[in-house]
Amino acid sequence: MALVETLLMHVSSTGALLAAVLLFLVVYIFSNSSSSPEDPPGPKPLPLLGNLLLLDLRQPHVSLCKLSKKYGSVFTVHFGPKKVVVLAGYKTVKQALVNQAEEFGERDITPIFQDFNHGLGIVFANGDGWKAMRRFALSALRDFGMGKKLSEEKIVDETRYLREVFEKFQGKPFDTTQPVNYAVSNIISAIVYGKRFEYEDPKFQDMVDKANKNIRMLGSAVIQIYNMCPFLGPWMKTWRLLMENVESFRREIKELVNVLQETLNPLDSRGFIDSFLIHKQSIQESGEKESHFHEQNLLITVSNLFAAGTDTTGTTLRWGLMLMAKYPHIQDQVQEEIDQVLAGREPVSEDRKSLPYTNAVIHEVQRLANIVPMNLPHMTSCDVTFNGYFIKKGTSVWALLASVLRDENEWETPDSFNPSHFLNKQGHFVKRDAFMPFSAGRRVCPGESLARMELFLFFTSLLQHFRFTPPPGVSGDELDLTPVVGFTLNPALHKLCAVKRS
Ligand code: HEM
Repeated sequence: MALVETLLMHVSSTGALLAAVLLFLVVYIFSNSSSSPEDPPGPKPLPLLGNLLLLDLRQPHVSLCKLSKKYGSVFTVHFGPKKVVVLAGYKTVKQALVNQAEEFGERDITPIFQDFNHGLGIVFANGDGWKAMRRFALSALRDFGMGKKLSEEKIVDETRYLREVFEKFQGKPFDTTQPVNYAVSNIISAIVYGKRFEYEDPKFQDMVDKANKNIRMLGSAVIQIYNMCPFLGPWMKTWRLLMENVESFRREIKELVNVLQETLNPLDSRGFIDSFLIHKQSIQESGEKESHFHEQNLLITVSNLFAAGTDTTGTTLRWGLMLMAKYPHIQDQVQEEIDQVLAGREPVSEDRKSLPYTNAVIHEVQRLANIVPMNLPHMTSCDVTFNGYFIKKGTSVWALLASVLRDENEWETPDSFNPSHFLNKQGHFVKRDAFMPFSAGRRVCPGESLARMELFLFFTSLLQHFRFTPPPGVSGDELDLTPVVGFTLNPALHKLCAVKRS
């Protein structure tokens, strides 16, 4: 029913359109759904609909985790006409993404991302272009970002701006979304453009807010339907809106690139864009004709870094603050440790080692928040035999991170917030193999080190200066942990009080 409702809400139905849909689905499903005995098992697909009636498109990861209980850790599901092999549980996901990294390391580029990126950039690209952009982004991230004192200072500076905004609310309830998103966007801005923006800058606000809305829309049921039947796009309001937003976002980036180009000094790169422009120039001068270093690839790679690096980190941080308000006794222990070890000074990355409890809490926030539950879609690069099953080249593969982060065989209390998952008896921090929020293998998140540094510094500094509580009259129990599903899992709309600590 949910599926039919969604379709009717979003598509202006005409007889011709419905006939076209039916014809397409009939042809497509009969050419794609033939199954052989070696295929991973799964529910029998219905003609046209595949297994859609079994799936809640508003939270597909929940349906898929349930199906894995019945069909095992490798199974097939048909999203309408699209066949997907789903991998569940730590052992299976690791086996595919790490031990058979090459075979499972391609990206399945869904129609919506093909529309956005045309196979360019990093996140939704494959082949030599992907390799070149990923390698270049990683080295720029290393030069201007992660692991470097420079970026640590940038994050510490940004924390001060964020704290100022929190202070202005004087302990009264407010929604943390915008200030947190502005702060984490400024870290990517510093790395990409070489500068930060004022939170009040209307252009900056527009860019961040649009990127945020896009992430929500991308996870909507209607866009999943679009991915199954892309020819419906022009009739879908959400698709049109997304395309407009992406175009306007890219125009803004182009304006910023133009300004940087005018003031470019090849001997002094200010950030990722400068480095790209300098590299592009040197390739042109060498007379090489075919190169991945062209303007379109720059614009798409920059949008990728913003899209992948802002919402993810911001959402995780907001889950962290909300969980602290919900579990005040855990917040007490974090603050006790911070006060004892830092004695009032600013935190630096090195402090992570001497703050094992705080570190464990941040890891547990990431585990429970599970913000990319279905991972990004992968695709097999060749025919693969996996756990006794045959998976054809070009098959879409979803390695469910949700099933790893809550794997009953790996975690003592998979569904509850329990920082002890990351502590030994002596209270020392312990790494856990099944901690995989950044995925693993060939496509592992290239922003992992930066994100981890941001989460540690922002979280520690905010907890050092503020006590987080639910609004007056609301108890911790009433803070609802049911996520709102978008492309990432977000906390439901809520307000918190940030009470200044003396
Ligand atoms: C808490 C923060 C973050 C989380 C949980 C996260 C998680 C992920 C996940 C699950 C993937 C998909 C990996 C796969 O396909 O197997 C990914 C990919 C990616 N992430 Fe992150 N990420 C975070 C922060 C960042 C940051 C800060 C950046 C940028 C500076 C970034 C840039 C990227 C890029 C470019 C990709 C695509 C990699 C590729 O396709 O080769 N991420 N991330």
